[in-house]
Amino acid sequence: GVGSLSESPIGVGMIGCGTVGGGVARLLREQAEVYAARLGRPIELRRVLVRDTRKARAALPDADTLLTDDADAFLDTPDMPIVIEAAGGRGAVSEHVQRALQAGKHVVTANKSLLAAEGPALFQLAHRHNACIAFEASCGGGIPIITAIQFGLMANSIRGMYGILNGTCNYILTEMTQRGKSYAEALAEAQAAGFAEADPTLDVSGRDAAQKLAILAAIAFGVKVDEQQVWAEGIDTLDLQDIRLGAELGYDIKLLAIAEQVDGRVSMRVHPCFIHVDEAIAQVHGSFNALSVYGHAVGHTFYMGRGAGELPTASAVVSDLLNVASGWYPQAFARMRLWPDTHAPAKVIDAGELISRFYIRVNAMDKPGVMAQISRVLGEAGISISAILQHEAAAGQFVPVVITTHEAQQGPLNGAIAQLEQLDVIEGRPVCIRIVEMPAG
Ligand code: NAP
Ligand code: HSE
Repeated sequence: GVGSLSESPIGVGMIGCGTVGGGVARLLREQAEVYAARLGRPIELRRVLVRDTRKARAALPDADTLLTDDADAFLDTPDMPIVIEAAGGRGAVSEHVQRALQAGKHVVTANKSLLAAEGPALFQLAHRHNACIAFEASCGGGIPIITAIQFGLMANSIRGMYGILNGTCNYILTEMTQRGKSYAEALAEAQAAGFAEADPTLDVSGRDAAQKLAILAAIAFGVKVDEQQVWAEGIDTLDLQDIRLGAELGYDIKLLAIAEQVDGRVSMRVHPCFIHVDEAIAQVHGSFNALSVYGHAVGHTFYMGRGAGELPTASAVVSDLLNVASGWYPQAFARMRLWPDTHAPAKVIDAGELISRFYIRVNAMDKPGVMAQISRVLGEAGISISAILQHEAAAGQFVPVVITTHEAQQGPLNGAIAQLEQLDVIEGRPVCIRIVEMPAG
C-alpha cells in the first residue's frame, strides 16, 4: 500500500497513453532512479489501458507487456494502488475512475472536463473509500497552481484570480498577432504540438478554460461550482481587425479566465479581453499559461509556466504521483476540508451586475452627425466615453469607429449596444470586447 516504510516498488496503472500519458511514461522511465531516490522506493508502471493496443507508441517501448484494452483486466491488476487517468472525457473514463476509487485506489488525473462536471461526486466517492484524487495537471499544465492555492496560500481568503488558462488559445492569439498567421494555420499547429483537446472546439470556445476556472474557483473560494455557472466566450468569433485596432490603443488581446469573490458571492467568466501591454499577463505568449491570485494577506501573487504539451503536463502528473506515493497527500485528503464535496454551492453574481471598461467597434457611415448619435445612445445609458478612434475614409463610406468607455455595468451596456445596432447609420452588429485592468495588490 501507499506510505508503508518498505523499499518494494509501488505499482501504478495508467489509463491513456497519448500526449500526456506518453510524457508520463517517458518521465517514469528516464527519471526512474531520481524518483526512487526521492521517494525511498521505485515506481513501477504495471499496466496501461488504451482503446487500441495495436497503435505504435514511441513513448512505451515495453508496450507488449503493459498495454491492454480490457478495463476489467486493468482494474484487477494486482499491487496497483495508484491509477493515473490521462485519457480525457467522461462516460467510460468516468466509470473507470469510479471503479478505481471504489477499489480504494488513489487517482491522479489531468481531466478537467471530468472534474468540472463530476468533481464533487468523485471527491465524495474517494473520501468514502479512503482513497484520494490528485489533479494538479487539470489546470494550468505544468504550473503547480492547485498546490499553490490549496497549500501555499492556505492562510488566505482568496479575493480574485485572473488567468490565461488555455495554451491552445494563447498560442493561436500569439501566432496571429506576432507572426501574422491565420487562425486556421495557428490552430492546426497547436493541434500538431499536442496542446489542443481531442475536440478543439472545447479550447477555442473558451469551455476548456471555463472548466479549469470552475475547478480553481471551487478550491480557492471553498465552494461547490457547477461548470454551467461559468459563462464563456471564446476566440473563435474574434476579428483580426479588432486585434489590430486594440493594439493601436495600447492593448493586447488575451482569453482571460476571471473569478472574483465579493461579499460571499462569486463571479466566474471566460472571455477575450484587451489588457494594457504593460501588464505582466499581457506578456505571456505562446503555449504559456499564467494566473494572478489575490489573497487577503499575501496580496498579489503571479504564476507562469507552460500550460499544455507533453512534458509540462507530465511534470504535473508525475509530481502528483510522487506526492500521492509518499503518503502525505492521501493523509491531507482524508483529514482536511479543502475539496469541494464538503463545500456549500456557490452563490453566483448575475452577469448584468458586472462592471468593466469596454472597447466598442461599430461600422458607421462617415457623414455629419453620426458621432453625435452614437454618443447620445451611450450617454443616455449612463456610459462615459474614454477615447474614440476613427481612421479617414472616403466620404459616405462605412468606416470602423472604435470607442473605449470608462467603467460601465454590463446590463446597461448591453442595452446601449442593442440600440446602436438599430441606428441606420450603423452597418452590422457592433463588436464589444471588455478592457480588463488588473487590481492593484
Ligand atoms: P490524447 O493524446 O488524445 O490521448 C488520449 C489517450 O487516452 C489515448 O491513448 C487513448 O487511447 C486513451 N483513451 C481515450 N479514451 C479512452 C477510454 N475510454 N478507455 C481507455 N483509453 C482511452 O489526449 P491528451 O492530450 O494526452 O489528453 C489526455 C488528458 O489530459 C485529457 O483529459 C486532457 O484534457 C488532459 N490534458 C491535456 C494536456 C495537453 O497538453 N495535451 C494538458 C493538460 C491536460 P488510444 O491511444 O488507444 O486512442
Ligand atoms: N487543451 C488544453 C490547452 C490542454 O490548450 O490548454 C491543457 O489543459
